Amino acid sequence: MTHPVLPTTELGTGGPLVGVQGLGCMGISEFYGPTDSDEARATLDAALEAGVTLFDTADMYGFGRNEEFVGPFVRANRDEVVIATKFAVERSEDDPTRRAIRNDPAYIRAAVDASLRRLGLDEIDLYYMHRRDPAVPLAESVGAMAELVEAGKVRHLGLSEVTGAELREAHAVHPIAAVQSEWSVFARDVERSAVPTAAELGVAFVPYSPLGRGFLTGAFQDAGKLVESDFRRTHPRYTGDNAVANGELLAPLREIARAHDATSAQVALAWVHQRAEVHGLTVVPIPGTRKRSRLAENTAAATLRLTAAELALLEPVADRVAGDRYPDMSTTSVGRE
Ligand SMILES: NC(=O)c1ccc[n+]([C@@H]2O[C@H](COP(=O)([O-])OP(=O)(O)OC[C@H]3O[C@@H](n4cnc5c(N)ncnc54)[C@H](OP(=O)(O)O)[C@@H]3O)[C@@H](O)[C@H]2O)c1
Repeated sequence: MTHPVLPTTELGTGGPLVGVQGLGCMGISEFYGPTDSDEARATLDAALEAGVTLFDTADMYGFGRNEEFVGPFVRANRDEVVIATKFAVERSEDDPTRRAIRNDPAYIRAAVDASLRRLGLDEIDLYYMHRRDPAVPLAESVGAMAELVEAGKVRHLGLSEVTGAELREAHAVHPIAAVQSEWSVFARDVERSAVPTAAELGVAFVPYSPLGRGFLTGAFQDAGKLVESDFRRTHPRYTGDNAVANGELLAPLREIARAHDATSAQVALAWVHQRAEVHGLTVVPIPGTRKRSRLAENTAAATLRLTAAELALLEPVADRVAGDRYPDMSTTSVGRE
């Protein structure tokens, strides 16, 4: 069954025109177990064919290998693809779990050049600060990012895991096209300040992990049973007793999916779009997949509309979720609001 090409939307006031659903590329290189590279490469092509134009990577995914993987695809389709990448999370292959958050201008200037080299590009379409280091004045970091725009290395700026107040402060230094933070049926803390502020400022929202890292789809029940290299084995929401309790919260998703002859993944994606309508802002979720079949399933969600009664069934879910969004919440926006 073929589906219509996705409609497009402006990614924030003055931002690029993109398909209303993007593609998260992270899992291709790390975090979610082994990847069939040929299938992943074919998924990128299938995404573009379906009208997905926003492709999301970061310098830290696979220690730069994710940027290297998507680079040839972006170069081959340069006029159609909007490539987003990120800086700020410094890692070392010697100790893969260690993270240092870097927002200082010298680091940003070096990071963008490294990303451009790995992608094989002259310019990045959307450059995000991946995580905030509150020790560095935000105006200094965003000022350095703005200089990259002036230098022609970056077209648009974005922020990830920021509060509403941080977004407002950054936007006063240089227009911010998009905020990328976790937003799903299970993760709604952004609706407190980041989402309303983005709506007010005309900034788009790019929900990451809109499928709850796969848990909302029913693809796995207990991340503790996933392969050794899978990051979700340490995820507080998807392991142990929390996974059992949270699994019970998926019943309404399944019920709604059945009523529409759809899947839980599609219901989860339709929910994000309809919540964005309530808040009055542009939203471009970036579900991650490495498989063409799932790509087709996810993009088909663009035509699904949930009824008011169905939205009401999903309304209480997030408040009942057991466990944090990350094993270590200290680098997220939670707690800085
Ligand atoms: N800014 C940040 O801090 C941040 C943090 C996390 C992620 N991200 C970005 O956001 C993107 C998306 O988030 P995510 O990948 O963490 O989580 P997600 O999109 O919620 O879920 C991805 C997982 O769901 C599976 N999946 C996808 N579609 C499915 C379907 N229709 N049915 C069943 N399973 C399905 C994928 O497996 P397969 O690949 O095997 O299909 C993968 O394991 C990432 O790729 C990354 O670019 C950003």
